[in-house]
Amino acid sequence: MSKSIDQKSNKIYSSWKSPSNIALIKYWGKHGRQLPNNASISFTLSHASTTTSVIASPRPSNEKLAIDFLFEGQSEPNFGRKIDKFLTSIRDEFFPFLYSYHLEINTANTFPHSSGIASSASGMSALALCLCDIDQQLSGQAEYNESFFRKASIIARLGSGSAARSVFPTMSVWGQHPQILGSDDQFAIGIQQNIDPVFKTFHDDILIVSEKQKSVSSTAGHNLMNNNPYAKARYHQAGERMSQLMKALESGDVETFGKITEDEALTLHALMMCSDPSYILLEEGTLSVIKWIRQFRAESNIPVYFTLDAGPNVHILYPDQYTRQVEQFIADHLQQYAQNGRIIKDFVGQGPEKLG
Ligand code: DP6
Repeated sequence: MSKSIDQKSNKIYSSWKSPSNIALIKYWGKHGRQLPNNASISFTLSHASTTTSVIASPRPSNEKLAIDFLFEGQSEPNFGRKIDKFLTSIRDEFFPFLYSYHLEINTANTFPHSSGIASSASGMSALALCLCDIDQQLSGQAEYNESFFRKASIIARLGSGSAARSVFPTMSVWGQHPQILGSDDQFAIGIQQNIDPVFKTFHDDILIVSEKQKSVSSTAGHNLMNNNPYAKARYHQAGERMSQLMKALESGDVETFGKITEDEALTLHALMMCSDPSYILLEEGTLSVIKWIRQFRAESNIPVYFTLDAGPNVHILYPDQYTRQVEQFIADHLQQYAQNGRIIKDFVGQGPEKLG
């Protein structure tokens, strides 16, 4: 059993590296306690990740949480307050040990803070894994089994919905869908065993069109879905697209995969544009990159597609066998749209890793 309890001080230690993920069918709209209004599916990434270490030291029992939070070695009172609020909301149900332990949380991202890449999925999943690990060590359990990762997915979801999907390798689904066995609103499930090997080789080159913070947060965007006149049709559409995408993933149909993925990205931004108030997160460069990708694909027959998250940056998706041609295309035509030339080269990954 991999126990990290210091016998003298009774300190318990846990460290996990957890990846970000990019949704193909988007989670956009939620209800209740962080429950999704439709099922979503994502690629787990590899390079874009957060490493979190937690040291739990025994202390006299107290109502008030005792947490020191360091982000990349610096104290970050803003993040610290958010973490404090989050842990207070889940402590009674999941981690009563927080009453009698002090936590020192150290966290760092592999991608630059200002890169426009959201860190909530990797950050919340890494923290959830550390807390579940400490809790498990305290209760004398040993295994990092299915129920461990399921619990981590629940905790990650409560921190940030999309984080629920980061705790599994390759691809995962979050949200109940009638055709996906075991799918659930409370936690994500890994689906790598059902998908064609070509999708396990996919690259995701993230072209940073703008490093600026988003003008409307995802949480505010989800809330605007409550009054969006197209919401009902959207949730129905997401369910249909999920069925079609699952078929394409199982049969290795890259073209259908690409069509659905691009349609989803544009639907997400169309929903923002028809919210009240309406808003636009796309930049001119985003549209130029999208047009170039479509033109290049039509002319070359190379299966390269785009998706977007809730921001202007473009995720360029393609199977490994086309790396040379796509890299050349990016250098010739897309690089000019990358702010400070920044493109994060990522690919489908193996999921979280326990570091200690
Ligand atoms: C567009 O998970 O960031 O990236 O649950 O409020 O933390 P909260 O929202 P968040 O929303 C992600 C939205 C998305 C689509 C997706 O990842 O599925």
